[in-house]
Amino acid sequence: MAARDFVEIAPDVPAGLEIGLRNYWYPIALSEEVGRDRPVGIKCLGESLVVWRDEDGRPGVLFDRCPHRAARLSVGRVLEGQLQCAFHGLRFDKTGQCTLIPWEPDDSPSRRDVCAQSYTARELGGYIWAYLGDAERFSPPPLEQEVPQELLNGDEYLWFRMPTEVWDANWLLTIDGGDGFHAVMLHSETQAVEDRAWQGGKVQPASVSLAERRVKILQSSYGVRGIAVDREGRPIHHGHLLDVKGDRFILPCITTNVIRPVPGAEPYVARLWQFPIDEKRTLVQRFVGQRVTTPEAAARWERLFHDVAKPRLEGISREDAMIAAAQGNLATARKHEHLFEPDKSMYEVRQRIKAAFLAGREEKRVAPSRQSLVWPLASPSAAT
Ligand SMILES: [Fe+2]
Repeated sequence: MAARDFVEIAPDVPAGLEIGLRNYWYPIALSEEVGRDRPVGIKCLGESLVVWRDEDGRPGVLFDRCPHRAARLSVGRVLEGQLQCAFHGLRFDKTGQCTLIPWEPDDSPSRRDVCAQSYTARELGGYIWAYLGDAERFSPPPLEQEVPQELLNGDEYLWFRMPTEVWDANWLLTIDGGDGFHAVMLHSETQAVEDRAWQGGKVQPASVSLAERRVKILQSSYGVRGIAVDREGRPIHHGHLLDVKGDRFILPCITTNVIRPVPGAEPYVARLWQFPIDEKRTLVQRFVGQRVTTPEAAARWERLFHDVAKPRLEGISREDAMIAAAQGNLATARKHEHLFEPDKSMYEVRQRIKAAFLAGREEKRVAPSRQSLVWPLASPSAAT
């Protein structure tokens, strides 16, 4: 199909994109959300999946329907590391191959005729990952090539994962919500702090009243960035570093922020995945990490996380989820918008997502950016 032949369900949204980009790795669950004793049902990219662990603890992911009579496999059980349908007892391995038909001999050749749709799965960095796509047309690239480097080296980086969240909004609206100039307004109370060096403990909110706050637009290495200022143009600390390496958005749905949450603290990197459950809900995974090379640095980062970063992220997440839901459904939101100049970086991300989706129709896969590596962080002094 030629690229121009697609139907749009909203401006810049070709039909099908509302339920995501296929042929990428997704962190579909936290490791601890999938135990050894029973399967777990998860919906991603509009598709119901079942996840479980084999006898070695390695994850398997199948389409959540028994190929016999279409019962959900996620209401079944795990036996000897295989997934058993609760209905008639067919068993499956991680490739989706049927391994047992209980009313036939254990080595019955009929088993070869029964196969559930399977997805390549891995566990890394405290997440269960699935390559959601058509592995025959686009074979899964090594997961290590497509995840942020912090997750590959636990000796060098220390990261904290936030709980899995479900937001009541289409994923494209949530990605739009990562623009670089809303934060100083939407997160004015959760991010802005007094311009005083951190000595440990909770931080003091900025004293400048909301009525006195304004936004100054800058062009940073990450694209458009709004910084908070008072009426006289004096900056109010929100913690965004303006000059860092790498792309802020990485396909299929990763947003990166480099944050110094309070003056005097070491910056951390926040990585955020936002991908569709279905066209109305988004699954959100987030971790924050620092590069730490000494036990003292690790202890300081742990303290910064619990005292400052964690409450900040919880507030930001609540506010971002609220505002994404407040835009209504995707088509309504896109039809009623009027973009301004500072929206251009957000708009460019939209175009990258759309181009990746259309490339898939042309039998091409757009690899995630390799410019995703932000370490070492640049310009340690510049944060606003
Ligand atoms: Fe936000």
